[in-house]
Amino acid sequence: MKTMVSPSLLAADYTCLGKEIDMINNSNADWLHCDIMDGVFVPNISFGFSVLDPVGQICKKPLDVHLMIVNPDNYIDLCKNASAEWLTVHYEACTHLHRTIQQIKSKGMKAGVALNPATPVNVLEDILHDCDMVLIMSVNPGFGGQKFIRHSLEKIKKLKSMINERGCNTLIQVDGGVNLETGKELIDAGADVLVAGSFVFKAENPAEAINGLKEL
Ligand code: DX5
Ligand code: ZN
Repeated sequence: MKTMVSPSLLAADYTCLGKEIDMINNSNADWLHCDIMDGVFVPNISFGFSVLDPVGQICKKPLDVHLMIVNPDNYIDLCKNASAEWLTVHYEACTHLHRTIQQIKSKGMKAGVALNPATPVNVLEDILHDCDMVLIMSVNPGFGGQKFIRHSLEKIKKLKSMINERGCNTLIQVDGGVNLETGKELIDAGADVLVAGSFVFKAENPAEAINGLKEL
């Protein structure tokens, strides 16, 4: 199976968002990763539903929405309305993670759980079988263009063996500092889906950059 790639819209040129989505539609990208930040859970604000809704209308690839917000439960319906197929919430932002995951699934979306760099993978021991995807953050969330944290590779290996032990088919997604070099190491460690912002959207040829990651 070729590596799955989810380019992160955060690094797109917002003066021509329609053109950027056209590029995604015509590329071999598997999904489009959409980062929603609230300035509370992370020290930055990205965009909200007034952007996500029209993106969902014109994007032909499944939307992979990454909520970096407190109280994500309050926005599950809005994400569904924006036609999100994958919805990822942060472990650190959910007091009742089991309930949140069930709510996401009850709306017909796939549920992902993201872990910050300082959160160990074993906190998911009792919920892993309910997760469609785990997102390992390989930078501290909030900004694009940061340096890859190498310890993420150890977390992925550990998570992969937890998944194999349980025989579940949870996907491992990685987000932050992904390029051809780190991407190769991530795939070798067991990652299934690579999120890439700057590496794709700042490339001279973004469609080629996507193909490069898919070949890893
Ligand atoms: C960061 C976001 C990422 C970001 C990655 O908090 O979750 O999706 O766009 O950007 P790069 O690929 O540039 O590190
Ligand atoms: Zn993200």
